[in-house]
Amino acid sequence: MRRVSADRPEPAIIGEAADVLRRGGLVAFPTETVYGLGANALDDAAVQSIFEAKGRPTNNPIIVHVADAAAARELVSNWPERAERLAELFWPGPLTLVLPRQPSIPGVVTARGPTVGVRVPAHPVALALVKAAGIPIAAPSANRSARVSATTAEHVLRGLKGRVDLVLDGGPTPGGLESTVLDLTSNPPRLLRPGLVSVDDLEAVIGPVEVAGLPKGEQLRSPGMLERHYAPRVALVGVEGSAEGYVAQLLKDGKRIGWLRLIRKAEGGRRKAEHGVVEIEMPDDVAAYSARLYAALHELDDAGVGCIVVDLPPQQDQWMAVRDRLRRAAHDGSPRPS
Ligand code: TXA
Ligand code: MG
Repeated sequence: MRRVSADRPEPAIIGEAADVLRRGGLVAFPTETVYGLGANALDDAAVQSIFEAKGRPTNNPIIVHVADAAAARELVSNWPERAERLAELFWPGPLTLVLPRQPSIPGVVTARGPTVGVRVPAHPVALALVKAAGIPIAAPSANRSARVSATTAEHVLRGLKGRVDLVLDGGPTPGGLESTVLDLTSNPPRLLRPGLVSVDDLEAVIGPVEVAGLPKGEQLRSPGMLERHYAPRVALVGVEGSAEGYVAQLLKDGKRIGWLRLIRKAEGGRRKAEHGVVEIEMPDDVAAYSARLYAALHELDDAGVGCIVVDLPPQQDQWMAVRDRLRRAAHDGSPRPS
């Protein structure tokens, strides 16, 4: 693990990491969303080793990170006007665009599909790394498949120790949730994963976006997205409004539980442990909540609780990405108190 400055990454350290990538190794690095597990996107074997390190099913394509829109264009066979406008406004930043791929990209990156997801990361470390490496970097989140993403270098090691050649520790990632994934190959463009760039932000630039299936606040994209994902080891149960009553009921049954308690303050973060409950206060500001969420889940996972109960934030568009991750973190078929 190497410490690296988050604001002004040391060129020598970035150079070392770029070398590891060019030689076919794996480097974990901070982005503005979560930590990524990177490999040379043009090196079949290197990308293959990402799947092995994560235990990731090979039918799940990987996002390719590049230094700028010009580099993204080289990876796609069509660069529509919409891509140009979104790239201008949101790159570098937490938006992934899915476009028809160039045949030169190894099939392992795109799960042998006809499209590729591309994004220009905003974090100075990630951006310096793609620039120094001079190659596109394939990078999923740096966690074991289906587990909670890493927002610190410690989280990366927790899941991937011994499976990564180099971990760049640039401190906690500021955003805390993964990028928004938008499919520009369908018309209207289709949201594949809500994220830090909201649907409203997108629609202001390119007009209507399809949010498959359900109304915006409660969308689910495809059956595949119902899989348990972003999940702690212990069961997680989300409760609309406040879980206070449910928590009390579980305590009466003698359970030891973790509780992500939504508080009407922008700050949050206080943690207290008493009477069988480890309670973490979660801020009711979306950005602050997102930044805190995965660290709170990792923390409760380690606290030895039998179950995690979460006060679900309101069914509003601004909370779409948070609610999406919480829903997918929940055990399928877990008891949901009404
Ligand atoms: O913020 C992020 O996006 C982070 C950082 C490291 O960039 N990366 C990340 O990667 O979250 P990953 O692999 O954990 O999630 C990428 C998601 C997956 O759900 C994958 O199926 C989808 O994006 N995806 C990637 N390429 C795609 C493609 N060509 N078509 C459809 N979905 C794609
Ligand atoms: Mg992931």
